[in-house]
Amino acid sequence: MRYDRQWSFYNPVRVRSGPGLIKELPAFATQAGSGRSEAGRGLIVTSPGFTARGLTARVRELFGDQRLEVIDAVRPNPDIKAIETARARLQGKNIQFIIGIGGGSVLDTAKSLSYLLSVDQPQFSLKKHLVDKAHLPQVNPLFMIAVPTTAGTGSEATNFATVWDSENQKKYSLTGPNLFPGIALLDPELTLSLPEETTVVTGLDVLSHALESVWNFNAGPVSISYAARAIDIVLDTLPALLKDPHNLDSRSKMLTGSLCGGICISATRTALAHSISYPITAALGAPHGLACSFTLPALLKFNAKNDDGRIKMAAALVGCSSIDELLSRIRELFAAVDINKLLARYQVSAENVLALSAEMFTPERSGNNLRPAGPEDVKAILHNALYNSP
Ligand SMILES: [Fe+2]
Repeated sequence: MRYDRQWSFYNPVRVRSGPGLIKELPAFATQAGSGRSEAGRGLIVTSPGFTARGLTARVRELFGDQRLEVIDAVRPNPDIKAIETARARLQGKNIQFIIGIGGGSVLDTAKSLSYLLSVDQPQFSLKKHLVDKAHLPQVNPLFMIAVPTTAGTGSEATNFATVWDSENQKKYSLTGPNLFPGIALLDPELTLSLPEETTVVTGLDVLSHALESVWNFNAGPVSISYAARAIDIVLDTLPALLKDPHNLDSRSKMLTGSLCGGICISATRTALAHSISYPITAALGAPHGLACSFTLPALLKFNAKNDDGRIKMAAALVGCSSIDELLSRIRELFAAVDINKLLARYQVSAENVLALSAEMFTPERSGNNLRPAGPEDVKAILHNALYNSP
């Protein structure tokens, strides 16, 4: 890859990683609140499962008598309406900082609220902006601490949030230059009890972020270094983790991989594998990490034909002597996690998926792909992915 072409990189997220760090949340929040009013309160955004496991109560305890609001109804694939309902509930409560604790849906909801609660225009709505393309007012979002409980989304390190319009089965992205969380707090103890399927599909999402940022027009040498770190971690760690799911070091590694994946897509955004995934998730309910990863070997082969050295650079950084060797290692990973079983579970078959191919072009994703792809290319990629996968 040539270095004398234009590229850019910016990521201001402060990272803290280590077992048990969640106990330090109040100290981080105090830093976040400095300069803001004493009467303000914090907001915890999380999932019903986190509360059911007693963890929301544990976080509340850490904060003693500090006033906290809790939104714990976040469901997978967060919806515009649900976020606006939460915004209405919180308006006027003088929220000073937000802690998002959960998977990608939780972090993206928290990020959306960090923005919406800062907008001083009651007539502005998420729907008007995302669906009707109304102008996004430039404000400083509330300080947010992102605490991922899955190793996949990378949302803790990006300045965008995925939001769904479930009525129309459409996916949107709320994006702003200031939407980066202030702090990403990686505590591997929070991921120790993740079920096997969640561990696998979120881990595959990391791989997809990393590879998609490599075969991407926006890639640069810095983003490729982060991508390679993420690829290396997933290829090595995910199979080991399935054999030893309570291994704290492996869980920490996967969180680091996820963070690196987030950092690299914060510079490049994703590409065709993600564009292909959205109708599959909307129509079949396939988990995001599965829907955006089963095409990766086919896309690696497709993009390798236009490689200007960036894919080779990433392969070399992962310790592979060729792109073909990287391809083999990805196929070995897919066999180790039994991706075919997951594809069958969610009915991701050639027949079901090819029927959706016309909806698989979102220009802001597929347009990033290193090798331009038309409708026939996408059909060939799907065919290749579903008939040649291990
Ligand atoms: Fe993703």
